Parts: sequence; structure tokens; C-alpha cells
Amino acid sequence: MTLLLEARRLRDMAYAPYSGFQVGAALRSTDGRVFGGCNVENAAYPEGLCAEAGAIAAMVAGGAREIAEIVVVADSPTPVPPCGGCRQKIAEFASADTHVTMVTLSGQERTMTLAELLPGAFGPSHMDKG
Ligand code: THU
Repeated sequence: MTLLLEARRLRDMAYAPYSGFQVGAALRSTDGRVFGGCNVENAAYPEGLCAEAGAIAAMVAGGAREIAEIVVVADSPTPVPPCGGCRQKIAEFASADTHVTMVTLSGQERTMTLAELLPGAFGPSHMDKG
């Protein structure tokens, strides 16, 4: 299964009645498995749960902890980058050179590394006291 096909399939499952903007995300963990998610909004917090966060939650619940690559699909004029919060969530389970690929429904594609998306990321080393 390609990550792109899975992310497109999941995008169709999105629950986005407030923004009308459906997003799908699929990731491969370093053990070779595929996990995915879609955005899920709600009336009180219309921004809801991002597709990337859903994919990460599925991965962690499945027992994997490391993202090898992740693909995000949305119907937008240009490829949609993960929001700031999702960049930090991806960083928790990926490395600086992990590829994040953003794809539009019309097939425009852009790949960036996590370091490009989140330069100067806060990480566990910043909490080291000694
Ligand atoms: N959204 C995602 O799921 N992922 C992104 O990378 C950008 C934004 C969702 C959140 C919300 O449901 C809708 O898109 C509009 O912000």
C-alpha cells in the first residue's frame, strides 16, 4: 500500500463540517507498518484533531514509536504543510531528516525534511539539567 493512496483514502473519511477542509495523513513507522488518520472537528473546538495527530495516535496505540516518513493530502491550491502543533508532534517521533511529503488532490507534491519544517525545534535535550 502506498502512503499516498492511504492518505487519500483517509482524507475521504475526514469529519470537517466546520472548515469544510478535509485532510488525510499516512505514515510508515520504522518497523514498516502503515498508520493513518484524518482530521476530526467538533463544535466547541472547530480546529479539532489534525490528520497528522490522528496518524501519530494510531501509530503509538499500535506500539510503534518512530516515523520513517509521512504523507499529508489535502484539496488545496498548493501542498498543505502540517500546522505548528503537528510539526512538534511529528518531531517527537521522527528525526531531523525525516521526510514529510505534502500532496494536493490535483497531484502537486512537495517534500521537506522535518528540520526544514521545524528549525530550532524544542526537544528533550533542552530539559537536561547537567
Ligand atoms: N488540518 C489538518 O488536519 N492538518 C494540517 O496539516 C492542517 C490543518 C485540519 C485541521 C482543521 O480540521 C482543518 O484542517 C482546518 O484547519
